[in-house]
Amino acid sequence: AGHAPSAPAPTTIRFVQFGNKKTKPWYSAPYPEEYSCSRILYICEFCLKYMKSEYTLCRHMMKCSWRHPPGNEIYRDGKISLFEVDGQQQSVYCQNLCLLAKMFLHSKMLYYDVEPFLFYVMTTYEDCKYHFVGYFSKEKRSASNYNVSCILTLPTYQRKGYGAFLIEFSYLLTQVEQKTGSPEKPLSDLGLVSYRSYWKMRVARCLLQANGPLSIEEISKRTSMDPNDIISALEALSILQRNPRTNEYELHIRQDELQAVCNKWDRKHQQRVHPNLLRWTPYI
Ligand code: ACO
Ligand code: ZN
Repeated sequence: AGHAPSAPAPTTIRFVQFGNKKTKPWYSAPYPEEYSCSRILYICEFCLKYMKSEYTLCRHMMKCSWRHPPGNEIYRDGKISLFEVDGQQQSVYCQNLCLLAKMFLHSKMLYYDVEPFLFYVMTTYEDCKYHFVGYFSKEKRSASNYNVSCILTLPTYQRKGYGAFLIEFSYLLTQVEQKTGSPEKPLSDLGLVSYRSYWKMRVARCLLQANGPLSIEEISKRTSMDPNDIISALEALSILQRNPRTNEYELHIRQDELQAVCNKWDRKHQQRVHPNLLRWTPYI
C-alpha cells in the first residue's frame, strides 16, 4: 500500500513491550523521534497507544477502558474474534496499528493515510480481555483486485496457524463480495510461504470436492482466488504439466496426493474459518 517511507529515522528501539510480552523489532518504524530514541517502547495492547516508560504504561492501564479493538465484532468462534475497524472512523488506532506492523514488515507501508482502508483485527479471549493476535488491512476499493494489503501475526503468536486463519478469512470476505482477490505485492518471504501453502491446500480441496477436473475459471469462482495464484498452486501440486509432444498444458490429477495435502493441512490447523459464523456485509 502506497509509498515508501521518506528517510525513516534510525531506530534505537531494542524492544517493544506489548501488554506483558516483550519482543525485538525486526525493522525500524517511523515513530516520532522522542519515541524512537527509547530503548524499550511500551504499547497498550488494547488501544495501541505507544509510550516511553513502564511508569507511563502503568498509569495508562489504570485509566484506559479499552478491552477489545474498536469497531464491529464480525466473527466469533470460542476464544477467537475478528473486529472490523474503519480507518476513517478510528484513524489514531489504525495509525498506531500500522506503526506497530512496520516493526515487522520491511517494504511497503502506509502510516498516516489510513482512511481508504479497513482493518481486520484478530483477538483471543483470555481473562475477560480480547488480546491482540494479528490483523490484515484491506482497501475499501481496490483498483488492482487486492483483497489484502498488509497481514501480520505478532511474533509471539507466530507459527501457530493464526496467519493461515487470517488468509482463509480474507478469502471468505472476498467470497461474500462475489469477487476474486490476491494479496498486494510484493510479498515478504514469510508472506510468500504462508500464501503458497494456503493456495496449494485450497486448490487441492476444491479439486477433491469437485471430484473431477475443473477449468481455472471454475476454480477461481469457487475459491475466490486469482487465476495466476491458481496456476502457481497447480504447478506446486504438479498437476499442471506441459506435454512434450503436443506442447500443451495438461492436468494430471492424483486424488491420493491431493488428499494427502489436505490431511496434512487439517492436522496442523485445528482452528478453521467457519463461514456460517461471519456476521458481515461488504463495504459499499
Ligand atoms: N519459517 C518458515 N516458514 C514459516 C515461518 C517461518 N518462520 N513462519 C510461517 N511459515 C510458513 C509455514 O509454511 C507455515 O506453516 P507451518 O509452520 O505449519 O509449516 C505457514 O507459513 C503459515 O504459518 P502460520 O502459523 O499460519 O502463520 P503465522 O501466524 O506465523 O503468520 C505471517 C504468517 C503473517 C506471514 C507472519 O510470518 C508475519 O506476520 N510476518 C511478518 C509480517 C509479514 O511478513 N507479513 C506478510 C507481508 S506480505 C503482505 O502483507 C501481503
Ligand atoms: Zn490503552
